[in-house]
Amino acid sequence: FLVDKGNHRHFMAKEIHEQPEVVGHTLAYYLDMANDRVRLPKLPFDIASLKHVAISACGTAFYAGLIGKYWFERFARLPVEIDIASEFRYREAPLEPGGLAVFVSQSGETADTLASLRYAAQHGQNILSVVNVPTSTIARESHAVMPTLAGPEIGVASTKAFTCQLAVLASLAVAAGRARGTLSEVDEQRLVAALVAAPGLMAEALKLEPQIEALARNLSKAKDVLYLGRGTSYPLALEGALKLKEISYIHAEGYAAGELKHGPIALIDETMPVIVIAPYDRIFEKTASNMQEVAARGGRIILFTDAKGAEEAGVETEATFVLPDMPATITPFAYAVLIQLLAYHTAVVMGTDVDQPRNLAKSVTVE
Ligand code: G6P
Repeated sequence: FLVDKGNHRHFMAKEIHEQPEVVGHTLAYYLDMANDRVRLPKLPFDIASLKHVAISACGTAFYAGLIGKYWFERFARLPVEIDIASEFRYREAPLEPGGLAVFVSQSGETADTLASLRYAAQHGQNILSVVNVPTSTIARESHAVMPTLAGPEIGVASTKAFTCQLAVLASLAVAAGRARGTLSEVDEQRLVAALVAAPGLMAEALKLEPQIEALARNLSKAKDVLYLGRGTSYPLALEGALKLKEISYIHAEGYAAGELKHGPIALIDETMPVIVIAPYDRIFEKTASNMQEVAARGGRIILFTDAKGAEEAGVETEATFVLPDMPATITPFAYAVLIQLLAYHTAVVMGTDVDQPRNLAKSVTVE
């Protein structure tokens, strides 16, 4: 069917703004929102008896999977290994039959992800895919499909598909935790209530757009940008860097904040922006000390945090963006919006072809 840009200049802008709505739809599909319970469609395997999960994906979908790993391990105490699909398909991982293999893909056609799926299927895994196109090859070859209800995504740089992938993976991880008894009913209600609040917090993040647009003018002059985060903010740092390089062509790298001292700190000077994604959580202080290391070397810090984080950061920043306080489980949803907006507005300042960046394809069906 027909998809247009609405009032937006680019599909990417429209898709960023649609997120509260489509993440809400996706959550409503997997959660009983009135009673704060998970309500998954019936799966053809027993989550309670799983011993192992392997996740495989490419690009932005890989980063969604990486956040999913943190959730599966925390909520369901299930060991998860995760690979970039082009590595997984060739590394011949030993897979004990009866495990769960999860493939995350917007298009459902990515060649490396499909090849990984076929490898896992040949090795006796239960195949679950998280796809945005339910008629895709990956969906058809899976034993179970958990669709993301993002609607058609046109911009080559993935935005709404990513946050909908997070919605599915979070729902699945909570369901796994309940099935395995690592989460109590009260835990489930608390986590589901948090997820139900995610679309509203994404809408709050969208309200920071004018400030982010102003910062984008400075960022567009940078040659290199470093993104830092810990915990689930680490995959977001990777995704933030990916978004920026995809559409603005500015070199960017995402790093686990704790790795700063093992290399990237050598790059810090007064010209390189360092974007720190640090909601005030149980590891905030660790990230704050990394920020202080950056500040001590004259680095330019751009901080995405909440009121408590802004207060406790203990450094002078070039810009601080303050989101409402929110449960740790949902920070990836709201903070994703900020990194997307930042990449988008930087690309607009640079005058690149935001929806069709050079050398990139929406769906990579060849190796
Ligand atoms: C391409 C797209 C990315 C996407 C990746 C994986 O590189 O440009 O936006 O994240 O493929 O695509 P998939 O359809 O499998 O999610």
